[in-house]
Amino acid sequence: MTWSRKHLLGLEGLTREELTAVLDEAGAMKPVALRQKPRLKDLAGRAVVNLFFESSTRTSNSFATAARYLGADAISFAVAASAVKKGESLVDTARNLEAIAADVFVIRHGAAGAPRILAEHTRAAVVNAGDGQHEHPTQGLLDIFTIRETLGRVEGLTVGILGDIRHSRVARSNMWGLKALGARVILIGPPTLLPRELGSLGFELSEDLDAVLPGLDVVNVLRLQLERMEQSFLPSLREYARCWGLDARRLAAAKPGLVVMHPGPTNRGVEIAPAVADGPRSVILEQVTNGVAVRMAVLKLVTAAAAEGGR
Ligand code: NCD
Repeated sequence: MTWSRKHLLGLEGLTREELTAVLDEAGAMKPVALRQKPRLKDLAGRAVVNLFFESSTRTSNSFATAARYLGADAISFAVAASAVKKGESLVDTARNLEAIAADVFVIRHGAAGAPRILAEHTRAAVVNAGDGQHEHPTQGLLDIFTIRETLGRVEGLTVGILGDIRHSRVARSNMWGLKALGARVILIGPPTLLPRELGSLGFELSEDLDAVLPGLDVVNVLRLQLERMEQSFLPSLREYARCWGLDARRLAAAKPGLVVMHPGPTNRGVEIAPAVADGPRSVILEQVTNGVAVRMAVLKLVTAAAAEGGR
């Protein structure tokens, strides 16, 4: 068995073999995610607890659905209605939930590193569903799964990640996963949102979308994370859309087979034009469907690793 990790905290450091093991497992799960095959029982009698300290539409519902399709009890912990509001700490909250029932914690938190702290203080398996600006590994996996399914491979492809790289945990997980699988990654965006240090880690940087677009096989468009910007990184949204927004006019210069992705939620008319988001090259809704298959694979693999005493 290639997979022996009880926790999935990020894609940084995962090997090609580990990534491939999850992607292959997700492929096997897809007919269940599409409801073409009956639900499974791999996690029967187990409890998967969603601990979301930040808002989410796709990710939390996708994990809960994935847990149910594997036969687990999916428990959603409503932070706003909990004793977290009375000051209970993350670790205390988790230990108390564990005392009720928790085999896997799926955690989203505004602070980078929160899932790691949880993993150090719980017996349960921990899956990171997005921590601050650090990583969002299941989003990276579902994006890569969608690329592999659409184009048949990952190795040798040129993948552009466009937009607010600085604040994006989705960008970081994609970068690490794609690099390990042999893709060429170009990070594209305004200079203020493109951290220079990523250049020294083996990623190409470009501020000129029109110059690099014709060479891309895939473009993954990111949301401008205005809630994470304490200072002004941009002159205006209109200026941003003009220079870095993906619209039909720009797309005319791209390869005919260019695959357009977006992790959601989209700011339509800012980073992506509605005609492009809903157009024939967009796989945005396939990404969401694939998210269920990928999260089933992750929940199954970490639970199996935990049962075998994995760390
Ligand atoms: C992303 C997130 O929360 O990191 N959304 C998601 O999970 N699909 C990206 C974002 O918020 O822009």
